[in-house]
Amino acid sequence: MATDSAPLKEPADATPATGTAAVEPLVRFDKVVKRYGDHVVLDELDFTVRRGEHVTLIGPSGSGKTTILRLLMTLEKVSDGVIWVDGSPLSHVRTADGSLKPAGEKQLRESRKKIGMVFQQFNLFPNMKVLQNITEAPVNVLGMAREEAEARAVDLLDLVGLSGKVDAHPSQLSGGQQQRVAIARALAMRPEILLLDEVTSALDPELVAGVLDLLGDIARSTDITMLCVTHEMNFARDVSKKVLMFDAGRVVESGSPEKIFSDPEHERTREFLNAVL
Ligand SMILES: Nc1ncnc2c1ncn2[C@@H]1O[C@H](COP(=O)(O)OP(=O)(O)OP(=O)(O)O)[C@@H](O)[C@H]1O
Ligand SMILES: [Mg+2]
Repeated sequence: MATDSAPLKEPADATPATGTAAVEPLVRFDKVVKRYGDHVVLDELDFTVRRGEHVTLIGPSGSGKTTILRLLMTLEKVSDGVIWVDGSPLSHVRTADGSLKPAGEKQLRESRKKIGMVFQQFNLFPNMKVLQNITEAPVNVLGMAREEAEARAVDLLDLVGLSGKVDAHPSQLSGGQQQRVAIARALAMRPEILLLDEVTSALDPELVAGVLDLLGDIARSTDITMLCVTHEMNFARDVSKKVLMFDAGRVVESGSPEKIFSDPEHERTREFLNAVL
């Protein structure tokens, strides 16, 4: 049976977390290099993330954690190497002779649809009400009907505990509330992959637990693949199965949170954990 009539992509919540898809990693960094001028930030970086996996990225400041997420979000371009998502090159296209060349903006926009990102500083649209912050991308990028996008936004605001804030402006919300809106906004795109970059580090301490609880609920109740940069080791332990420790643009070691946090193999990991724990 031809696959032409099949949808290009099923909604994330309809995709089983296990099965044949589990064999091929959902994300594969293949000798990814990122340079700024002479400064090599990522140095032939290799790692994989399986579908449905929750991975925590740790490492010292400047080790390239945000850069990895920004590359996945196609906000930055690789200098060399290829990032594969779901078996396709994220920011390259195949030419007739089978080689890869950098993708154009149109394909990058397509790639971006699979991936949602939540930033440290929330980055909400300040001039839009909460509801519009959430409906903007589904309507304008996915072409979703406005009524459907609004109904979904209302559900998502309920999920993040902000049903009463539909008509508020971001400036009328606390940091924790803004971050919940940002999480709802990312989920509104039904991403296959959710990237979280130190999403609680700009919050007042008493607001951190609520946002982490919400993310824990999302991790447990959806099959979204998550890559989190966080210094919240308890959170990492609760939600992720794998921790990757980065330094100098490479993975120093990886393993379960129990292993990495209690019995790391590498001195560099021990030093880092001593400094942050
Ligand atoms: N746009 C840029 N231009 C030049 N250098 C950059 C740029 N963005 C990042 N870098 C450099 O890349 C390196 C990695 O930065 P990145 O933000 O990925 O680190 P990080 O691991 O997220 O650190 P932190 O824990 O402090 O957030 C740093 O040395 C940084 O100065
Ligand atoms: Mg960072």
